Amino acid sequence: MDGHDHHPVFSVRGLWKVFGPKAARVPGDPALTALSTAEIRERTGCTAAVRDVSFDVRRGEVFVVMGLSGSGKSTLVRCLTRLVEPTSGELAMDGEDVLAMDATRLRELRRHRAAMVFQHFGLLPHRTVLDNVAYGLEIQGVAKAERRAKAREVVAKVGLAGLEDRRPHQLSGGQQQRVGLARALATDPEVLLFDEPFSALDPLIRRDMQEEVARLHQEEGRTMVFITHDLAEALKLGDRIALMRDGAIVQLGTPEEIVTRPADDYVRDFVRDVPREQIVPVSRAMRPAVGDEADRGAVLAPDTTVADGIAAVARDGVPARIEADGELLGVVDHARLLAVVAGLEPDHAAPDTTPEADPDAAPQAGPRTAPPAAAGSDAGTSRPAAASRPARPVARTAAGSGTGAPAVPAARKEPSAPTAEGAAAPTNADTNADADADTKADTNAGTGTDTDPVTA
Ligand SMILES: Nc1ncnc2c1ncn2[C@@H]1O[C@H](COP(=O)(O)OP(=O)(O)OP(=O)(O)O)[C@@H](O)[C@H]1O
Ligand SMILES: [Mg+2]
Repeated sequence: MDGHDHHPVFSVRGLWKVFGPKAARVPGDPALTALSTAEIRERTGCTAAVRDVSFDVRRGEVFVVMGLSGSGKSTLVRCLTRLVEPTSGELAMDGEDVLAMDATRLRELRRHRAAMVFQHFGLLPHRTVLDNVAYGLEIQGVAKAERRAKAREVVAKVGLAGLEDRRPHQLSGGQQQRVGLARALATDPEVLLFDEPFSALDPLIRRDMQEEVARLHQEEGRTMVFITHDLAEALKLGDRIALMRDGAIVQLGTPEEIVTRPADDYVRDFVRDVPREQIVPVSRAMRPAVGDEADRGAVLAPDTTVADGIAAVARDGVPARIEADGELLGVVDHARLLAVVAGLEPDHAAPDTTPEADPDAAPQAGPRTAPPAAAGSDAGTSRPAAASRPARPVARTAAGSGTGAPAVPAARKEPSAPTAEGAAAPTNADTNADADADTKADTNAGTGTDTDPVTA
């Protein structure tokens, strides 16, 4: 394991997955790669499910893959453990070339280092909760007493203590998914891969499960790759989000970056209804303190959301102080907080006119100039991240405010997609791949386009 900490958990470069006849010719042919996914399909009969994708999954982060149905999310994540065999590109885990792994090494990767949680749980119906959870350890060859003890511990961790002897059909959907989660955790994998694990659950249970995942992540710091097509879920869980469209990543960034600086109209459309005040931290709206502002007002951490900042400023009637490690970084006033809500850059907000902010008073944290954030350059961390960015051209529409962050619209499949392809999509084959990973690991086997890398 030494040296692994210097590497990203996954490192992906120029990865392609093309399904269909003579798929391998597609990535290498510039005349084809220049075409859209629909055009490639028309020309070759092949589907480019993942197109020239590059990213790192950093140790300890929750890396979210988001996109509409058919955008390539599942294919991409299955490529990481070669449940789907990539067509071309580079893929490393902890610095080790995954594409060069032999069957034994790959099996070890799937059994010990990366565990998958699927949408349809993939539980073994005739086994008890405890035995389902212990299943991954059984495959690893762990002795019975030991694996049952470990399973018991993990069952308790996901809140299912007391239900060890039930069978899956005696559980609610949410409980079944907790079993799926516990089974993945039991093997103590380096990374958990989630493929839309909660999309079959009703909204309240879904929120419970999201909180469960967030809690587990906080407690254990385990690296997670999380697929969802639900923007609210992505924003809630993701440290970074990769937004996919037609097999390509159109933007990779923090929730704040995705929401405040969408890379193109597609992303902008995606995030249009997100309440920015729930995503953007108060540090984005900060300015240097003037007058006695350094001595009064609520004290907030820099990553407090603007929504919470508004509550504090409204309550106290004076700007709130932003502090880290006891050091004053700046203040936020109502005008700058409201600018965030309005989709403006805080520096374009009208100057604060509260009596406290006497423009003639001596500045406490850097000289007060107009625009105020210009003072940030000599104030180190007090510089608002947005200081040098141009104003966002798009203001939020009235309809967008207060509606929450809804799930993205339903599938926008390309009309030219042959129906046979839909039938070949692996969505309903999760159970096989999961519950019996060693014999049917590749759900694409039925299409004849891939071979099972484990049994082959
Ligand atoms: N085994 C396969 N053979 C042929 N085409 C496939 C196969 N698996 C997936 N595809 C196609 O690749 C594209 C990406 O599919 P994928 O399942 O990765 O999408 P997704 O983003 O996970 O969608 P969803 O949100 O519906 O799960 C789709 O056009 C799909 O039809
Ligand atoms: Mg999918």
